[in-house]
Amino acid sequence: MDEFHKIKRLPPYVFSEVNQLKASARQRGDDVVDFGMGNPDQPPPQHVVDKMTEAVQKPGVHRYSNSRGIPGLRRALAGYYERRFGVELDPEREAIVTLGSKEGLANLAQAITSPGDVLLVPNPSYPIHAFGFIIAGAALRHLPMAGFDDSEGDFRREFMRQLERGVRHSVPKPLAVVVNFPANPTTRTVDLDFYEELVDFCRHHGIYAISDIAYSELYFDCPPPPSILQVPGAKDVAVEFSSLSKTYSMPGWRIGFCAGNPKLVGALARVKSYVDYGAFTPIQVAATAALNGPQDCVDEMRARYRSRRDVLIRGLQQAGWEVPSPEASMFAWAPIPAAFRHLGSLDFSKLLLEKAQVAVSPGVGFGEYGEGYVRLGLVENEHRTRQAIRNIKAFLRKVDPEELPSERREVAL
Ligand SMILES: Cc1ncc(COP(=O)(O)O)c(C=O)c1O
Repeated sequence: MDEFHKIKRLPPYVFSEVNQLKASARQRGDDVVDFGMGNPDQPPPQHVVDKMTEAVQKPGVHRYSNSRGIPGLRRALAGYYERRFGVELDPEREAIVTLGSKEGLANLAQAITSPGDVLLVPNPSYPIHAFGFIIAGAALRHLPMAGFDDSEGDFRREFMRQLERGVRHSVPKPLAVVVNFPANPTTRTVDLDFYEELVDFCRHHGIYAISDIAYSELYFDCPPPPSILQVPGAKDVAVEFSSLSKTYSMPGWRIGFCAGNPKLVGALARVKSYVDYGAFTPIQVAATAALNGPQDCVDEMRARYRSRRDVLIRGLQQAGWEVPSPEASMFAWAPIPAAFRHLGSLDFSKLLLEKAQVAVSPGVGFGEYGEGYVRLGLVENEHRTRQAIRNIKAFLRKVDPEELPSERREVAL
């Protein structure tokens, strides 16, 4: 029998090749330092765990929850937007709780996409930005996000040029554009001027903007990243996904949000009312405590990632691998060293795993414009990071670029 149409549109996960190799290496007893996934390694703040433990004891909390999220948590999100961005949200019409922002993005795509609708999506991107819409039956037009040698201003000009072309050359006119800053995997940030131009563009052309700020609190050398909803009138066209996964190290708890345009929030709420019953109530109660409680835990989290970043970037530089220092996010986006570039990011990642016991994510796994890069997640502590750097240094020293295979996929070391 034929493969299902939707499954045919979902290519095998590129990362699974590296993951399989990683598993085999570990089985052989290799001590792999794993920068592969953006999966926070720290526990959530203790007061959040305590709140969860307390809430779960209550007899009334085990029933189906509210699929839009408990009102207290939606109010807590509105409080966060007010404090952090000066944005007012109506917790009834303009905010919904999701089972992590990934689920929210996928179900929003289901809610708003008709077969054949055109979506403008960044490339490389976090996979659900593209595949959420593929699953929903959309056609994609990619907005190249890597390969710019630029200052912020040039990126903005180039991005807007791509958007213009996307609108001019797409039939039907695009339904929406997806943006994600600080960006996974490129770590790029933007300022409010960028969002002003984007909102203006979307209003003018009658297309929606879907923003993802999963890394809004992971910033180091730049001002706090803005929200698209800060732009006056943004709610006419934009929604924004946010998440507790990275800010409070709660990735397994599956709590995220969608806020902004009431029509889009309402469409997501409608689909979710058919699909799920909301997150487990004690998790939502604890998530409320995270947003409403003391925020020094967020400062500590930021300091931890900054310190790891500094150890990683300095170490790689000393090893002879020039990697730009990310000003935000929990990743480094590393151009493959010139001597290895011809291998491509997948084979370079495999080589690094085999020869240096270091796991990274191949850039091509995030889309074709991610080729030429690998992504390193700041999810190993300083000690492990130093160990990885020693291995990488030895690996780079051992290799004679002249002896490297000239053909892709001929990994001859
Ligand atoms: C850009 C981006 N958005 C969303 C997510 C998923 O977040 P959540 O845990 O809220 O589903 C990730 C996770 O890595 C991400 O990188």
